[in-house]
Amino acid sequence: MTHGAATNGAAVEAIDLVKHFGDTLAVDGVSFTIPEGGVLGLLGPNGAGKTTIVRMLSTLSVPTSGTGRVSGHDILKEPEAVRRSMGLTGQVATVDELLTGRENIRLIGRLYGLPMTYIREAADSLLERFALTDAADRIAKTYSGGMRRRLDLAVSLVATPPVLFLDEPTTGLDPRSRADLWEVLRGLVRDGTTLLLTTQYLEEADQLADQIVVIDKGRVIASGTPTDLKREAGRASVDLTVTHAADVPRAEVLLRTCSSEVFVDEPNRRLTAPADGLVDMTRIADRLRESGIEVDDLGLKRPSLDDVFLHLTGHRAEETDETELDETVAEEVAQ
Ligand SMILES: Nc1ncnc2c1ncn2[C@@H]1O[C@H](COP(=O)(O)OP(=O)(O)O)[C@@H](O)[C@H]1O
Ligand SMILES: [Mg+2]
Repeated sequence: MTHGAATNGAAVEAIDLVKHFGDTLAVDGVSFTIPEGGVLGLLGPNGAGKTTIVRMLSTLSVPTSGTGRVSGHDILKEPEAVRRSMGLTGQVATVDELLTGRENIRLIGRLYGLPMTYIREAADSLLERFALTDAADRIAKTYSGGMRRRLDLAVSLVATPPVLFLDEPTTGLDPRSRADLWEVLRGLVRDGTTLLLTTQYLEEADQLADQIVVIDKGRVIASGTPTDLKREAGRASVDLTVTHAADVPRAEVLLRTCSSEVFVDEPNRRLTAPADGLVDMTRIADRLRESGIEVDDLGLKRPSLDDVFLHLTGHRAEETDETELDETVAEEVAQ
């Protein structure tokens, strides 16, 4: 990628970034590097400083100290070159509700000063890529949440930036729209786009990122590959509830053939055993069926962001927002 600056293979660098808002220390010395074509997930609860970091790197906010580089351009010294090499999809969708999807894309293309013939073609192909062709000529006000996020992403891609910042791209989306968006993002990465993605969901970072930086209260508290982090936070476990109390001992024996540790909660007919993933769970499900042991519930629990936090900091991630009731928590509440 040639954008007129030496990058040493780094598409994005955060260099000891600090941001004060009055007495609030929102970002407290954050550094990381994303290689060209890489995907970095900035993972942390509400208020951790994610948006502030993205805003500084995208030149929307000036750091109190520290700096950063995007495609080799310094965010303080060359903000315009930085803005030309990146696209930004904010936490709050920025599409104009009164324009159609197509008009939103064309408008941004014109603001970038791109030739009209190019804009027309780019709009058509972006609309198709984001499954918005049928809705292209409806005003954005009529779009669903998932469609808006996709339009927002399409708009940020008109100028084909090599680096894309995505601030909580799927927060508030239903699981289906979230999975659709992940697919779109994987496509961008296949085409060579570098992504910086913020998220509150370990699963999202796990699905997309090849490097995760966990932040809490403005500081980096851990970083590594998704596998590294989950390993640190503990393994997944298979969790099952047998229908008949009399089957608990048999189920325990059966689980012991698959896993070295088994925890039995006799009064609730519930058994839990560390497992490596779906393969283990499927094997356990098969054996239960073969043995004629009926179960009310069988599931795989993966370490959640909360588990990662508890492990890393010794405290739970503060209550984030109302949509944070993930499957694991829901299961616990149902007990
Ligand atoms: N413009 C601002 N003025 C004052 N405080 C702010 C401002 N923006 C963010 N903060 C504070 O900085 C901290 C980090 O916020 P933010 O970067 O939005 O976190 P996140 O995106 O991880 O939820 C929070 O304590 C927040 O209240
Ligand atoms: Mg935020």
